[in-house]
Formats: sequence, C-alpha cells, structure tokens
Amino acid sequence: MKVSPLSPIGIFDSGIGGLLIAKEIKMRMPNENFIYFGDTGNMPYGDKSKEFIIENSMKIASFLYKKKCKALVIACNSMTSNSLNAIHQKFHRKILIFNVIDPIVKNQVFLSSKRIGIIATPSTIRSNFYIKKIKKYYHHLDVVQISTPLLAPMIEKGLKIKKNVIKNYLNHFKSIDTLLLACTHYLFLKQEIDKFYHGKVHLINIQKIVVQEIKKKLDEEKLLCIHPNCNSKYPIFYTSSSIPTFFEKKVKILFGRKVFIKTHVFNSS
Ligand code: DGL
Repeated sequence: MKVSPLSPIGIFDSGIGGLLIAKEIKMRMPNENFIYFGDTGNMPYGDKSKEFIIENSMKIASFLYKKKCKALVIACNSMTSNSLNAIHQKFHRKILIFNVIDPIVKNQVFLSSKRIGIIATPSTIRSNFYIKKIKKYYHHLDVVQISTPLLAPMIEKGLKIKKNVIKNYLNHFKSIDTLLLACTHYLFLKQEIDKFYHGKVHLINIQKIVVQEIKKKLDEEKLLCIHPNCNSKYPIFYTSSSIPTFFEKKVKILFGRKVFIKTHVFNSS
C-alpha cells in the first residue's frame, strides 16, 4: 500500500492508556495526523489469554492498516508482550511497527540502575517479555516484577485510586532505584507514584523515549510529516463499545474539541 508523509499514524490500546503516547506524538511531531483505536469493548486486556490478545490486536492492526496508516504504534504493553510476534509476522515490510517496550529496554536508562521494579498487567507479567529482554541486554540488573490487576480497569473508568491501593502494591518494592510503569494506563498515575517514593525512585519517561524512537525512524524512512497544513486534519478516535464518557472526557482534555470520536465494532469471526 502506498503511504506518504501525509498518511496518518495508527495508534492503539485497550482504552485510554495509549492516549498519553498519542499526546506525546502530537507534542513532538505537531504536523502528524493520527487515528487512534481504543478497544474499550474488550478492556481490560490484562486478564485475557494470549490467544485472545493476538486475535483482537490483529483485528485492530488490520483495521488501521486498511485506513492507510504509515505506521502502527502498539501503545499497550499487554498487546505488545503477547502479540508483537504475530503482528510482525503479518505486517512487517508492509508498514512500520512500533511498540512501547523495545525502545525502553534498549534505552541507556538501565545502565545506571541496579535494581528495578516492574508493575504491569497480569497478561504482561505472565508473558515474561520484559524479564527476557532485560536479562538479554543487562546482566548486572536485578529485576522484580508484580502484576497490579486492579489499576488499569479503575484508571479506565476514571475512578480515584486510593493511596492504600498504590501502597499495597509498591510495598513489594522496597529497595529499587528505578520503577517501570509497564502499562500505558499507569502513566496517568505517575504523580501519585512519584509522591509515594518522595521522588527517590527513578520513573522512566516512557512516552518521551517511545516517541523519540518513532520520530527518528519516520525521519530515516522519509515519512516524517513536515507540512504544517496537515494540522488542519482532526485526529479520529475509535472505540469498540459505545463511546465511554470518561474516554471522551480524556480525549477532549488532551486534544481539545476538534476531534472525531466514533464507534467501530468488529464483526465476530
Ligand atoms: N494499557 C494496557 C497496557 O499497557 C492494558 C490495560 C488493560 O487493558 O488491562 O498493558
């Protein structure tokens, strides 16, 4: 399929988590247009099987591919850790594929750490994707990981996360120097988590690292949009259930009112 710098970037997650990745894309590459897909009808992905995650993330990737996107951004750790290989098998050489894990584990940031904690959804933890990658690149690192299943569904609904919930989870990591928020939904909790550690534990800037990588690659592939008039196109946000109120609210807070929000439900196969 012929794509050009003017083609949109396709970004997807189970819900609102990837919105902060989309926001960073808009901030660092203001001329880019994008199409976002939140699989709200299937959220949370954290409690789904690998097979389910593969089947559904492939549907979304195909949907965005057919919309003539120039790149796919898997803005979800649960999808990346369970279905990246399947997505690569089907789409590599057809479209650029980015995810939220590889740029992080390849980043220098780990070189100065000694003991890192990872919090993620059960499906990400079960995949062992992080542990395998981190152990491959950094032999010196001590890694502890726990699944934090309550967080993403609460964040998606816009519920206030009580200090105690955060405390109960993070008490597992007493002597870490770095914490990886390995679920894009958790990026909305960064301030609360930073407060819990009194700023003494390094929280990796996931959005920045991921988007730097996307920008660099688009540039190398001559697909970076340098035409300011693309700005006149409004981003489109799809949800796979009737548009959840909190999703709509977050989109408008982050991207303003000049957006399209639509529902797209896949036919069951
Ligand atoms: N935002 C997702 C992630 O990064 C998943 C949240 C969920 O659907 O459980 O893992």
